[in-house]
Amino acid sequence: MVLALVTMKKLLDYAEEKNIAVGAFSVGNMEMVMGAVKAAEELGTPIILQIAEVRLKNSPLELMGPMMLAAAKNSSVDIAVHLDHGLKFETVRKALELGFTSVMFDGSLLPLEENIEQVHAVVAEAYKYGATVEAELGVVGGNEGEGKKHEILCTRPEDAVTFCRETGVDALAVAIGNAHGNYPVLPELRFDVLEQIHSAVDVPLVLHGGTGISDEQFRHSIKLGVRKINIATASFDRLALFAKQYCDGKEKANYFELSAAEVQGVYENVKRHIKVFSFID
Ligand code: 13P
Repeated sequence: MVLALVTMKKLLDYAEEKNIAVGAFSVGNMEMVMGAVKAAEELGTPIILQIAEVRLKNSPLELMGPMMLAAAKNSSVDIAVHLDHGLKFETVRKALELGFTSVMFDGSLLPLEENIEQVHAVVAEAYKYGATVEAELGVVGGNEGEGKKHEILCTRPEDAVTFCRETGVDALAVAIGNAHGNYPVLPELRFDVLEQIHSAVDVPLVLHGGTGISDEQFRHSIKLGVRKINIATASFDRLALFAKQYCDGKEKANYFELSAAEVQGVYENVKRHIKVFSFID
């Protein structure tokens, strides 16, 4: 059997060749994994399954990691398993030891030199495992999890050049007015900045904070070099909504039906986003 667990680099190359972006879908339980994989298999498109370090208190890495890897290995489509927003070197190493094929180290709040130094060390470590590395430059707004909200600080194209050259990173998460969580209004993305970064560096670009960005904005950003798009909040919200709708008005909820409702909520959200990112109408 061909194992469908692949590196993120392979998927980024595929996206570049096809001029699309690969969806990176955050997961926090088995139903989320199942919903995301079901959508990808139905559309025959690769995806990235990811979990952020701040989520590990709810969904421990030792439990989620093996499940995400098993889902990828048993899938009929290519799937990369990725640590999102790694904050500690030891968490990155733990993910690599488990078999994650990609890791992000988020040193975006550090001064440039320190961010470079730490990402460089992560790249060296990941290399031993043949894994892909993503890093962030500039500050994506909002917050992942309940942490402090961050002000947006757009990536400076000239810093991106230095950063990619010095770290040897495989993918660069950019800050162009995007933010984690639900946007109060449609964000105004700085496509001018994205265009400058794209022409200055040749690594694939990553758009975080996908929830609430419009389909047109997604597709425009893909035309300007974005090859990976992260979706978290929308999947968590859909799961919670479908679970609530299932439970509402029921005198006695049934666990198995509740589980199926959760899968369905995530499946619908992931499917919708894959279609936008793959230009499937
Ligand atoms: P959203 O929660 O806004 O979809 O952002 C996802 C993300 O960027 C995860 O790193």
